[in-house]
Amino acid sequence: MGHVFLTRPLGDVVEQFRPQLAEELNIPLRIHPDPGSPPTREEMLEAVRGAEAIISLVTDRIDAELLDAAGEQLKVVANVAVGYDNIDLDAAAQRNVTVTNTPGVLDEAVADLTLALILATTRRVVEGDRFIRTGEPWIWGPKDWVGLDVSAGATLGIIGLGRIGMAVAKRAHAFGMRIIATGRRAHDDDARALGVVPAASVDELLPAADIVSLHCPLTPETTHLIDAGALGSMKPGSYLINTGRGPLVDEEALADALDSGHLAGAGLDVHEFEPEINPRLRAMESAVLLPHIGSAGDATRNAMASLALRNAVAVLSGDEPLTPVS
Ligand code: DGY
Repeated sequence: MGHVFLTRPLGDVVEQFRPQLAEELNIPLRIHPDPGSPPTREEMLEAVRGAEAIISLVTDRIDAELLDAAGEQLKVVANVAVGYDNIDLDAAAQRNVTVTNTPGVLDEAVADLTLALILATTRRVVEGDRFIRTGEPWIWGPKDWVGLDVSAGATLGIIGLGRIGMAVAKRAHAFGMRIIATGRRAHDDDARALGVVPAASVDELLPAADIVSLHCPLTPETTHLIDAGALGSMKPGSYLINTGRGPLVDEEALADALDSGHLAGAGLDVHEFEPEINPRLRAMESAVLLPHIGSAGDATRNAMASLALRNAVAVLSGDEPLTPVS
């Protein structure tokens, strides 16, 4: 008998599916026991053997070797993430394995964190907090800790205006920011209602924005989308925010741009060589660095887990998945 393998404990929300899997589908659920770290490659290869479904996280590499280790009965890989760059889609398609993701349920959480990073970088929130904790004497000064006036018509450039980008645009509009954007929804009526001006290309957007925020998927084409050339064409004194995927940005080039003062700051929730953090960025006051927590709202994480499980159950029951990766 096959099983469903979940690569990390995801809490009570998952337990609700256990009876359905057992009683209706006669499939047991096995869960990697350690919430703190993913299975090693060897553990993964062993644990997926005979699985009919794999519920994976962004930290799990699902490639041809792993799919073959699972075996021919594998029907679905349900990723608990909207991004699926950890999965080799071609290898899955060649083996008739359905891949699903979790779009829609994390838009608001990621957009909230994007705004948090915009405010933290432009208004030097983390830098100020770190300074206060040094215990150094200080007194209010008119020229101290000055940053960008976000609400006074700063221009936000959104690269990849999809669901999450729109949720960011709504917030930015409420803050009084101007918005320019590339992406599939940049010409939509609801984007126009927020004052979004479509940019013909990333090249057009970069020099026009005070803050650039990345919301496009990671693909071979978008890897290092923000390289030395792109950074050089950004406005002097502008800011880069990344809550998408780390490899969208060439971090050495970003460190150079911050070092030279060409960029005023960067807010990164995701990192090029995650979980490694670029040591130059780690040493910079102008970089705000977070541990990939864009979707880390309690209700959001539960909704992601639930959607992934429902996708797996649908495929195992012979139904259409709710959110297949096309
Ligand atoms: C996603 O959903 O792609 C996030 O990066 C994981 O939280």
